[in-house]
Amino acid sequence: MQKEPVLLDLKSVPHIVGPGALEQAATCFSGYAKVFVLVDENVEKFCLSLFQEKLPDIRFAGIIRTKSGELNKNIHSASVIWEQLTHFKAERDSLLINLGGGVISDIGGFTAATFKRGMDFINIPTTLLGQVDAAIGSKTGIDFKEFKNQVGIFADPKAVIIDPVFLDTLDQKQLQSGFAEMLKYALIMDVPLWKMMNMRYFDAMKPDLNQMIIRAVSDKISIVEKDKRESGLRKVLNFGHTVGHALETLFLKADAPVTHGEAVAAGMICATRISSQWPGFDCHSPELIYEMVDRNFPRLVFSVEDIPEIMRLMQHDKKVKAGEIHFTLLSKLGSAVPDIVVSEEKVEESLRFYLRNQ
Ligand SMILES: NC(=O)c1ccc[n+]([C@@H]2O[C@H](COP(=O)([O-])OP(=O)(O)OC[C@H]3O[C@@H](n4cnc5c(N)ncnc54)[C@H](O)[C@@H]3O)[C@@H](O)[C@H]2O)c1
Ligand SMILES: [Zn+2]
Repeated sequence: MQKEPVLLDLKSVPHIVGPGALEQAATCFSGYAKVFVLVDENVEKFCLSLFQEKLPDIRFAGIIRTKSGELNKNIHSASVIWEQLTHFKAERDSLLINLGGGVISDIGGFTAATFKRGMDFINIPTTLLGQVDAAIGSKTGIDFKEFKNQVGIFADPKAVIIDPVFLDTLDQKQLQSGFAEMLKYALIMDVPLWKMMNMRYFDAMKPDLNQMIIRAVSDKISIVEKDKRESGLRKVLNFGHTVGHALETLFLKADAPVTHGEAVAAGMICATRISSQWPGFDCHSPELIYEMVDRNFPRLVFSVEDIPEIMRLMQHDKKVKAGEIHFTLLSKLGSAVPDIVVSEEKVEESLRFYLRNQ
């Protein structure tokens, strides 16, 4: 069992990962005139005092507050954050600590990178999704109008500190959501991680979770260091997300939101189905993948009548270029190919397959 944190570098950005990471990170916070911490109300309740307990020497010049949830990842919240930084007289030599889930690291990174033309920030993710995905890779931003991540900037954090101690207060649904991204890494690039998962329920994997987090983090780092700006390789991380994002929006619009992970899990079934009918596919058992997803995620409830709306939503996605839908497909278990053009008929068939094979 993993007991010590490990240090992984993404270019020159240290990523300290594992139990005890927080305590080992003390030096990352030194040398700043003022240190601020950004939290939402849940993080303030569940994580802030733990953070202060572990690092009692850090004196905050101010606690910056924003409202939790995707619906608040917007320009209004960004403006409220800039107001608070202005109020506390933050300067370019100040530091912002983004303590929270992916919403916090996205909006916190964006507001820090633009405040007075850029102040330093450090990400301390407190959700599993944040730890294995959102806090890593320098993408920051906010949603604008109805479009996700429409406005943003690539900006490097000074450090990323990933300590599983925060996960104890996270509810099961949020943990599962992060798990979907870990399963994605296993399928696209990490056979040993797939083997570690061993066709188990997520609950049964918990003793191995720290080890699995370290693998997932190094998987993401290895992709981002080769292609930070997503000109090619980084697109493999979109596996399951073309259909997944459309489903996420469908359910959000119906006022019955599902987690990002639940939507991506459904998207991975569809993308695996499309892969299995693609000539480049060399895997004899896509059924194992369906089974693993089903073991951990309930099937989303929608009907054949929703398919035209799902297809319409997909047209708004960044992965659609000149009307063509681009998918990351599996070439085999543990290996993926980005940017494959897939016909609308094939996508629709994969959705019908999802509904039929439950
Ligand atoms: N920048 C990227 O590369 C990237 C990648 C993936 C996802 N994202 C973004 O990440 C966001 C989703 O992230 P998320 O799933 O972490 O959502 P989130 O930040 O909304 O967190 C989920 C919920 O958990 C609460 N919470 C956070 N930590 C907690 C803890 N330790 N205990 C109890 N409650 C806690 C939050 O207040 C929130 O209510 C989306 O906006 C997505 O676009 C960004
Ligand atoms: Zn995702």
